[in-house]
Amino acid sequence: MVDDSSYPWPLGPPNAANFDLPSSARVYDFLLGGTSHGAVDRMMGRDLARAEPLVVSIVRENRSFLRRAVTYLAYAGIDQFLDLGSGIPTMGNTHEVARRVVPDARVAYVDIDPVAVAHGELLIGASASGVSVTQADMRYPDKVLAAPAVTDVLDFSRPVGVLMFSVLQHVSPDHDPGGVVDEFVARVVPGSALAVSHLTGDDPRIDIDAICGPTRAYPNGRATPRSAAELAELVDGIELVDPGLVYAAQWRPEARRHRGPLDEPCCGHRAAVGFVPA
Ligand SMILES: C[S@@+](CC[C@H](N)C(=O)[O-])C[C@H]1O[C@@H](n2cnc3c(N)ncnc32)[C@H](O)[C@@H]1O
Repeated sequence: MVDDSSYPWPLGPPNAANFDLPSSARVYDFLLGGTSHGAVDRMMGRDLARAEPLVVSIVRENRSFLRRAVTYLAYAGIDQFLDLGSGIPTMGNTHEVARRVVPDARVAYVDIDPVAVAHGELLIGASASGVSVTQADMRYPDKVLAAPAVTDVLDFSRPVGVLMFSVLQHVSPDHDPGGVVDEFVARVVPGSALAVSHLTGDDPRIDIDAICGPTRAYPNGRATPRSAAELAELVDGIELVDPGLVYAAQWRPEARRHRGPLDEPCCGHRAAVGFVPA
């Protein structure tokens, strides 16, 4: 267990592109093997991996869940996505995954992190029409849903896939994560979809404090893990598809072609996909 009271970085101002402090988007990029991070992010990523070696499998399984969930939704007829807390572009971004099934799928990416947004604009925005990247705080759904880059790309009179992959843990209890989910769900038409993954706090196989404690250094605050019961409440009102709310690795897993680190029993995130009822 990490004693985060002695962690070396002070809390920083929100929304600043500050390479003196680690950021969730950049540490996650480091753990995924990306290149869009700084020294402080690598330091934190290595500390996390030392404190809880499963963290690398946990982030990879989350990305893998993203791919399966978006593919599932695209086959189910969802052709436009609002990807909240989308992160720094990496392999298998939402529009790339969706377009394997629906070639003209539209995606509005939203992230609070200025570095994630700048990389998104460079790597995605310039290369794909029907895709936009917006810097916005998902804790304020009204502002997200009024952003021109969101309304230009998405047609809210038709079903939208609302994606919240590994981001709701950054919405603290003070910011009413259930209210945030409900607000997005209320603003899309029936038949729309919600896909969620979330760091979970009641998995005995991992030291969740070792992962979440140090995140107090992030400019936007510490990650809050949530139990299965708390997560079930967050998606209450959504008609979940099988297998319901499960560990991310257990959500419609594909056959593994190779044995490797990802064959280890994986954990860390719980995940669910469902539809907004009429
Ligand atoms: C762990 S990463 C997940 C990235 C991506 N969704 C994935 O699953 O691969 C969390 C992302 O959420 C973003 N984030 C955190 N708080 C946010 C907020 N209030 N509004 C929008 N994005 C936020 C971070 O900047 C970061 O890019």
